[in-house]
Amino acid sequence: MIHAPVMLDEVCEALDLHAGGRYVDCTFGAGGYSRAILDTSGTSLLALDRDPGVRPHAGGLSAKFGDRFTFAQTPFSGLEAAIAGRGWDRVHGVVLDIGVSSMQIDQPERGFSFMRDGPLDMRMGDTGPTAADAVNMLSADELSTIFRTFGEERGARRAAAAIVRARAEAPIITTGMLAELMAKTLGAGWQKIHPATRVFQALRIYINDELGELARALCAAERVLAPAGRLVVVAFHSLEDRIVKQFFRKRSEAPGQGSRHLPQDAGEPFSPSFSLLGRKAVKPSETEVKTNPRARSARLRAGVRLDTPAFDAKPLIFPAIPDLYALEALL
Ligand SMILES: C[S@@+](CC[C@H](N)C(=O)[O-])C[C@H]1O[C@@H](n2cnc3c(N)ncnc32)[C@H](O)[C@@H]1O
Repeated sequence: MIHAPVMLDEVCEALDLHAGGRYVDCTFGAGGYSRAILDTSGTSLLALDRDPGVRPHAGGLSAKFGDRFTFAQTPFSGLEAAIAGRGWDRVHGVVLDIGVSSMQIDQPERGFSFMRDGPLDMRMGDTGPTAADAVNMLSADELSTIFRTFGEERGARRAAAAIVRARAEAPIITTGMLAELMAKTLGAGWQKIHPATRVFQALRIYINDELGELARALCAAERVLAPAGRLVVVAFHSLEDRIVKQFFRKRSEAPGQGSRHLPQDAGEPFSPSFSLLGRKAVKPSETEVKTNPRARSARLRAGVRLDTPAFDAKPLIFPAIPDLYALEALL
């Protein structure tokens, strides 16, 4: 299934598209946002995606829009290098539509879905360790921390212990093997969601370093946006949305108010680098949710870059054992 772009009108409005504007779509996917940005005449667009499988969609846009459109296969944490590679300095809008695409979920061989059997892969890109590597190599403590932090799974310890027992017999290498094991271990009385849902979500976030990528991309976007440029982020689950919300809160507070949330660093307080577009996250309309149920959990947050220096964010190296609070403190 081709991915249906979520909150497309709201995204375009928040980006404030205009002729002469340079934009970056950090999550190209099937190119739904990219096409809409290019449909505004006079815009130029750099699109990024770590998934080589999106290239055919990028080829279609190149054929139609020529050199107004460029695609780069790269994780979006590499935003600054990609912009420099395009020969740009500052840009007028950056958009992120976080998460997996319908195309990725629908292909069993990508290993994202517990509903269809396939290799336990879950990588959005084509490098790095797979979910099978994590499941078969990490300790019970590490797996349990991953399931608890990234999946908010209450049975994290039981799930990790069951994995360690099962892999002593034979390695867990397919989505079907893991889904069945989780159904046996966590499944008693399940009704609403499949018992493997949270464990699969946690592994996907861990394998792709999704929260670390997001945090680094937000800080990079802050550095590359021109004054009055827009940063627009659509997130689908609470962990991602929480990072986006924290980022915008820290960047939009009046100087000196940072101490409400974190101990104030020594030295001069920073001036805000963004003003918020709306105080609350924008949700999809009822009509959109009816036609595209996948949109129901989407939350859009956006900000306008002010003419002030970017915050001095600490280098965002994601901790080996996930710690959400440590990550947020680095923003
Ligand atoms: C929800 S889809 C985007 C759909 C797109 N807005 C559209 O209209 O077709 C998310 C895309 O972002 C990509 N992606 C996720 N995390 C990424 C990252 N850290 N760096 C680059 N691409 C990423 C995924 O591979 C996927 O193709």
